Amino acid sequence: MFLENPLCKLLGIRYPIIQAGMAGQTTPELVAAVSNAGGLGILGATRMTPENILDAVRKIKMITTKPYGVNLWLGPQDGKKDQDISSVQQFLDQKFRKTLGLPLKSVSSLPERETKDLLPPSKLSGQLQIILEEKVPIASFAMGDPVKYVDQIHSTGAKIISMVTNVEDAISVAKNGSDIVMAQGSEAGGHRSIFDNNGALDEGYENIPLIGTMALVPQIVDALKKGIQARSIPVVAAGGIADGRGLLAALALGASGIAIGTRFLVCRESGALQGYRERLLSSSETNTVVTKAFTGVPARVLNNTFVKEYAKSELKPLRWPLQRFVANDIYENAQTKDDANYYPLYSGQGLRMLKRNQSAEEVVNEIMIQAKERLSILEKQMEK
Ligand SMILES: Cc1cc2nc3c(=O)[nH]c(=O)nc-3n(C[C@H](O)[C@H](O)[C@H](O)COP(=O)(O)O)c2cc1C
Repeated sequence: MFLENPLCKLLGIRYPIIQAGMAGQTTPELVAAVSNAGGLGILGATRMTPENILDAVRKIKMITTKPYGVNLWLGPQDGKKDQDISSVQQFLDQKFRKTLGLPLKSVSSLPERETKDLLPPSKLSGQLQIILEEKVPIASFAMGDPVKYVDQIHSTGAKIISMVTNVEDAISVAKNGSDIVMAQGSEAGGHRSIFDNNGALDEGYENIPLIGTMALVPQIVDALKKGIQARSIPVVAAGGIADGRGLLAALALGASGIAIGTRFLVCRESGALQGYRERLLSSSETNTVVTKAFTGVPARVLNNTFVKEYAKSELKPLRWPLQRFVANDIYENAQTKDDANYYPLYSGQGLRMLKRNQSAEEVVNEIMIQAKERLSILEKQMEK
């Protein structure tokens, strides 16, 4: 059925279903299971050390011979810019560290000069090195244009997927050599794949445009159809898609496939903590918000205590990546205890479509069956 699908052809996969790279959640078992089922599994490797990526890639290769991907973030690495971390630390102390019994930090608030040293050096070049050395078949990127790395990545025969949130960024990544454009609608769980090209990550930039999958996909498809250097660039729809109806709708909009994050989070093979899974399974479409509170980059999450307290305060989160770094002790402590009130619960809006305790293979198969059934119902209706 999908032999002629441009995405399947390009990636060498059977079904046009991609499991989105999700930092911290995508185990080698999940990635390989999706690829073995005929889709494309992607390792969310943004926060992994190069050594950990190497281990994970080797595990994936032991479980599957099928194509798979590795995902990295290209967001700005500095995050300094005269940020006053002391008021954020005070707030975090009062609202969260005291409650969780963590050492307070506001006492040691640092001047700007030292703030620089707070940030660990970027891992990106080491991470990319693993993708190249291990000849990872698909490199997937968010939060920026991989233009600087395109030639190197292509030299290993790998394909490049870039995730965007608007037409302008879709055109630039396509012009600059990405092979596939992932259109991330505002329903999507996790961080918005915003490029830092127009101050989109600045502190004052609050009203981010939230373009839904339904509106974004056909506009990107149309823009890319005009031909970027005579190449045809498949578009993948992401955001709020969780079943066969979503696959069919995306194909109808002109996409060549779909990327799913949230539904794969509750699969047996995923790395999501139990408390996180339970929140996802008991939440509905009204329980998510887009917030900068966790990292400084807008992200769609379940509205837990951390988010609510931040929203009540007048405080602006620090600019990426400082906000995540400064508050990381809180998230790590809460994750150790699996207290889902105080760590990020990234989530898309398709929550009522989640199903408990399925394998990734069951999800892929169910989506394909449902899409085919829906299509034949629609065809019959159209004939009448
Ligand atoms: C828990 C979680 C973590 C995510 N982490 C990443 C990531 O590390 N890199 C990335 O490109 N996208 C990440 N995303 C966004 C996905 O790529 C994708 O856009 C989104 O999951 C699609 O929407 P859905 O969750 O409604 O299926 C994440 C999404 C979730 C839910």
